[in-house]
Amino acid sequence: MDESVRKGLDGVVADETRLSQIDGEAGELTIGGYPLGELAGNATFEETLFLLYEDRLPTAEELEAFDERLSAYRTITPATQSVVEAAATRGQSAMDAARMGIASASLARTDDDRAEEATERDALLSVAQLPTIVAAYWRATQGESAPEPRADLSHAGNYLYMLTGEEPTESEVRGLETYVNAVVDHGFNASTFTARAIASTESDVVSAVTGAVGALKGPLHGGAPGPVLDMLDETHRADDVRSVLEGKLDAGERLMGFGHRVYNVRDPRASVLSEAAESLYRAEDGGDEDFYESARETEVVARDLLSERRPDLDLETNVEFYTAVLLRGVGVPRDLFSATFAVARVGGWTAHVIEQRADNRIVRPRSRYVGASNRTWTPIDER
Ligand code: ACO
Repeated sequence: MDESVRKGLDGVVADETRLSQIDGEAGELTIGGYPLGELAGNATFEETLFLLYEDRLPTAEELEAFDERLSAYRTITPATQSVVEAAATRGQSAMDAARMGIASASLARTDDDRAEEATERDALLSVAQLPTIVAAYWRATQGESAPEPRADLSHAGNYLYMLTGEEPTESEVRGLETYVNAVVDHGFNASTFTARAIASTESDVVSAVTGAVGALKGPLHGGAPGPVLDMLDETHRADDVRSVLEGKLDAGERLMGFGHRVYNVRDPRASVLSEAAESLYRAEDGGDEDFYESARETEVVARDLLSERRPDLDLETNVEFYTAVLLRGVGVPRDLFSATFAVARVGGWTAHVIEQRADNRIVRPRSRYVGASNRTWTPIDER
């Protein structure tokens, strides 16, 4: 038996998946066999979800039936509503609200309880409830209630509608669709692996998704786009972008939105998201071209600076850089960036749970013991 420790499971191939493929050297990502560049800007989120669940694109008829089943689960129960309101009142974060809200989403279950139907129902339920939970939280932080979800709007369109109370423009919906498609799945990242480990015990989908939200909450996983936007606001206001960024590096700070553990080249998601941001910001229905141009300039200057200062590393633009630009453009508040990542990634989590259950072996790695040995019990009054 190999006793070597692979800290962080670095390099360990833990199972097979047909959901997404990452080539970190070439900077390529495919979802369900489709190159991200082809899928993200064309598919609706519902189509991508169907692809992940069924391993093929739906026909128009299948898509209509799928949309209908998914949107039927959008309304949250009064219990979930009060949990997210309590999170908002107590100043807890959107990710805390998402974790508490989704944990209670099993209350919205319908009554079919055959095991395989329950898995599919809970997958749709989790995907459909999370946007309503996040929107309800956000509106509660503003002292308002979210409007009832609208079944006539798409998944992405309805999320924006519940957040703002206004029907989003076509460009905003397309921008958000591209984002959620681009980040829906990405191999065995920490939250996805968490979901699979929970599913491997034959626990239920809602439990797996709740654990995954907890994993995504950590700043090492889902927390960078907010700070990226802070940096972009600063460079947008500044006369000299280079000196702002130099100041950060001189102070020992990292440039947010650059560097990645898996990619040595520009993250393929950054390319897809930057194109989507470009068309959104240049759109006639209310873009903000100036901000987009300033973000582009910041990217160019940052990459130059990073390669000058660290020629030994390939610190390229990562997914979070243009996530910040795109989500700002579609009108998602910065405090909801991580929770909106969860709204997208829940599609991947649930597909992984279905995949895990279809060919399951309980996740149970070993550990190497490094603690004390041969201790002798001392009674409490002699310690
Ligand atoms: N700016 C400046 N220096 C950097 C940056 C950066 N963005 N990223 C890495 N470095 C430097 C580090 O300071 C370190 O230098 P050292 O060797 O002198 O200590 C070296 O590169 C290696 O850094 P690690 O943290 O060991 O690299 P790792 O591959 O583990 O980290 C990470 C990847 C966490 C993304 C890192 O590049 C980073 O912190 N980037 C900024 C934050 C960010 O954009 N996070 C979102 C990532 S996307 C995602 O994971 C969903």
